[in-house]
Amino acid sequence: MSRIAYVNGRYIAHRAARVHIEDRGYQFADGIYEVVAVRRGHLVDEGPHLDRLDRSLGEMRMAAPMGRAALRHAMREVIRRNRVADGIVYLQVTRGVAPRGHAFPKGAAPALVITAKRLAPNYAQMEKGIAIVTLPDIRWKRRDIKTVNLTANVLAKQQALDAGAYDAWLVDEAGMVNEGTASNAWIVTRAKELVTHAPDHSILNGITRLAVKRLAETKGYRFVERPFSKSEALAAEEAFVTGTTSWVTPVVAIDGKPIGGGTAGPLTRALQRLYEAHADEP
Ligand code: PDD
Repeated sequence: MSRIAYVNGRYIAHRAARVHIEDRGYQFADGIYEVVAVRRGHLVDEGPHLDRLDRSLGEMRMAAPMGRAALRHAMREVIRRNRVADGIVYLQVTRGVAPRGHAFPKGAAPALVITAKRLAPNYAQMEKGIAIVTLPDIRWKRRDIKTVNLTANVLAKQQALDAGAYDAWLVDEAGMVNEGTASNAWIVTRAKELVTHAPDHSILNGITRLAVKRLAETKGYRFVERPFSKSEALAAEEAFVTGTTSWVTPVVAIDGKPIGGGTAGPLTRALQRLYEAHADEP
C-alpha cells in the first residue's frame, strides 16, 4: 500500500512529498510538531495534544495553519487514507517558506505537514524494560516548546545506543534528571513516592505524563512533582519512562546498574495497565 501525506492542503504520495529548500523548518528548525498515538482507530488524548500544539505555536509567535476542526478533519483523513488502526500521526508546522533571514518573514504562510504510519505498541519492550544511560542535557532552555530542533536529542539517543543502552536521561548541571530524549522520566522512591519533574521550561510536559499523573492520583498513589537527582535515580525502587511511542516503559538499568533487581516493579506494572486501559478508551 502506498502511503499518503498531507502537505499544505494536498494529499499526495508520501514518496513524492516535498517542501521547499527555503522552508524555515529546514533552514532554522523554526517549527513545531506533535505526535499523537492512534489506538484501534481513535486518537489517544487528541484534545491535550492539540492544546499543546496551540501552546507551542503561541510561544513561537507562529500563526495556526488552520482552525482546530479543519485540523482534526485532516488528521482523520491522513489516518483513513493510510489505513492506520494502531500507529501514530505526526503533525509539523513551520513558519513557512521565505528567503533566508533570521527575522520573521513578512507574509509567509505557516506550512503544515501531516503523516501517519502503522506502529504496534512495543509490548516486548514494555514487558522487559529498557536500559538507559545518563548524559549531560545540552539543549536550549525552552524545552517546554515542542520544536523540531532535536539535534541534542538525536546526539544523546545515538550516544546511548552506542553505549549499548536504549535511551539517555538528560541531566542538568546540578545533577538533576530532566527527561529522556523522547520521553519523560519517572522514579519510585523507597518511600513509595512516585516522582517526576515538574512541568517548567526544562522539560516537555508530556501528554502521556499528564495522563499517567491523573491515573496515579485517581488511584491515590503518592505522587510528587519535583526534580530528582541522578544518584536518587540510581537508588530508586523502580523507574520508568512515559511517552506517546513508549507508553509506560520500565527502566531496568541506569548507567549499567540494575534498578529494582533488573525487572519492572509493581507500581510501574500497575501504571502500565491503567495507561493501556486509558489508551483503549474511545
Ligand atoms: N516525543 N520529552 C521529550 C523530549 C519528547 O520528545 C517527548 C515526546 C516526551 C513525551 O511527550 P508525550 O507523552 O506527549 O509523547 C517528553 C515524541 C513522541 C517524539 O519526538 O517522537
